[in-house]
Amino acid sequence: MSKLREPPSGELREVRDVPEAFAELVATEFLAARTRREGRFSMAVSGGDTARACYERLAMDSSIDWSSVDLFLGDERCVPADDVAANQRLVRESLVVPTGGVARLTPMCCDDPAAYAATIARLGEIDLVHLGLGPDGHTASLFPGSAALEAPGEALVLASEDPTGRNPYPRMTLTLPAIALGRLVVFTVAGPTKHGALERILGGEDLPAARVRAARVIWLCDRGAMQG
Ligand code: 6PG
Repeated sequence: MSKLREPPSGELREVRDVPEAFAELVATEFLAARTRREGRFSMAVSGGDTARACYERLAMDSSIDWSSVDLFLGDERCVPADDVAANQRLVRESLVVPTGGVARLTPMCCDDPAAYAATIARLGEIDLVHLGLGPDGHTASLFPGSAALEAPGEALVLASEDPTGRNPYPRMTLTLPAIALGRLVVFTVAGPTKHGALERILGGEDLPAARVRAARVIWLCDRGAMQG
């Protein structure tokens, strides 16, 4: 097997089953946080099919005390809360309901990015940020060429949209400075449709996901994503 090339930040782990590896990693991180300090565990979650599968698997982990977990959104589509496209609906269906409830899910309200930014700023750090990878290399709702990706300064939450129109809906998203507040950022990349974007990132292309920096970054990738 060719030597695994490393992403621009963090470490890449090829795994057989991305949702299973994700659940194990979150449970380990949760336990480590509990031994580090009392209090709540903060987690920023994503949307998408990979995220849904990851949360459904994670919800089966009985080692996590969900009553001490605060969920925040990494990004949101600006649609009603119960719209099938809403990430908050995906998270409620795949994680909040199956676990019997979390301490708090703080949804994004698209008409007030500054309020969400203040919420994130008050956290100071986020224990775990979960990110997906789009076929175009986007992550959260930071799309190639989007203003939210290129925003100067330290804004933590911005309105966003995909200038190509390929990814629908007006959005709201954590920015790179907000993602950098993650003690651990976990990318989940599953299936051959992600091979192109992953190869471009490993080849050094400046795609949005390649710009993510944080204390620790781990890419969980299955064989389909690695080999196409
Ligand atoms: C969104 C997501 C987005 C997603 C990736 C991967 O709101 O669409 O946050 O960043 O994580 O597009 O989605 P899939 O796993 O469905 O390919």
